[in-house]
Amino acid sequence: MKISKGFASDNYSGVHPKLLEAIQKANVGHAGAYGNDEYTARAVKKFKEHFGKDVDVYFVYNGTGANVLGLKMVTESYNSIICAETAHLNVDECDAPENFTGCKLLTVPTDDGKISVEKIKHLVYGFGDQHHAQPKVISITQPTELGTLYSLKEIRELADYAHKNNMLLHIDGARLSNAAASLRKSLKEITFYLGVDVLSFGGTKNGMMFGEAVIFRNKDVSKNFVYIRKQGMQLASKMRFISAQFEELLSNDLWLHNARHSNKMAAILADEVKKNPKIKITQKVQANGVFAILPRQYISKLQKEYFFYTWNEETSEVRWMCSFDTTEEDIHAFVALIQKTIK
Ligand SMILES: Cc1ncc(COP(=O)(O)O)c(C=O)c1O
Repeated sequence: MKISKGFASDNYSGVHPKLLEAIQKANVGHAGAYGNDEYTARAVKKFKEHFGKDVDVYFVYNGTGANVLGLKMVTESYNSIICAETAHLNVDECDAPENFTGCKLLTVPTDDGKISVEKIKHLVYGFGDQHHAQPKVISITQPTELGTLYSLKEIRELADYAHKNNMLLHIDGARLSNAAASLRKSLKEITFYLGVDVLSFGGTKNGMMFGEAVIFRNKDVSKNFVYIRKQGMQLASKMRFISAQFEELLSNDLWLHNARHSNKMAAILADEVKKNPKIKITQKVQANGVFAILPRQYISKLQKEYFFYTWNEETSEVRWMCSFDTTEEDIHAFVALIQKTIK
């Protein structure tokens, strides 16, 4: 059987064998439902080791659920949430954030997926004005949807600015492990140590079958979140199968190993393709994604062999994502096809 692998997304990959094994090992006997089980207790302990002892963590099924419910927790329907135009929150969640929170999303254009105090400050006004949606959250994605990274200083500046204005900082960390691996920092050093209030932490894109976490700075921020998760239909009754995966992922540096590997594969891919003068890499390759502009006529030819997305039809920019299971052989075979096709 031909094993098909491409560069479409890091959720096109399967499940890391150790995580599948963790599911299998949890598949014995009966266990308490809805998180009332020993796997969940152990996984929560692991999260506290990695993110800090005060954090309050909840497991959900998917990343959209993590973002939407985390934001719902800290907002009222009359608030606004500020994010990049390119944010998953803005373009890939079918308006679920607006629908569930009732908030207004205020977006700013960005070339590299990042926002800054300078870029957003024109939106932070109108406090106390009953005619104006009240700014409440700044949301960033780390790494961004364009594969770039915020520095620690940039995150701290946004957190300080948010707090100065009585707002909160949310991170969509669907690929946060890739950011930590690339920045060579621990998970807490790139989040709660910098003043982050709410974090969506991804498992699926780093080798899990399913499962993401919503993590709050402490219990003061997460009051009543259990009800919000249930109303939001993200309470897993057989939660042990999410928890067992997270426990394994956060043990023995598996999260870091997987993330380092996918980052490394993206770096190799970028180094190889940029040897072709007809290909232009458009973003810094700082995590596990490569963005490039190719002559339009070759894209569909390449896609016949390897699936990947065209990111921007107008500019013929494509996105290539690497996963925990991408191999150097996969990269070399893909690059060979690119070099043969684009002359
Ligand atoms: C930046 C980002 N946030 C969140 C998600 C979560 O999406 P899903 O609801 O598909 O798990 C994704 C998935 O593509 C993503 O890329």
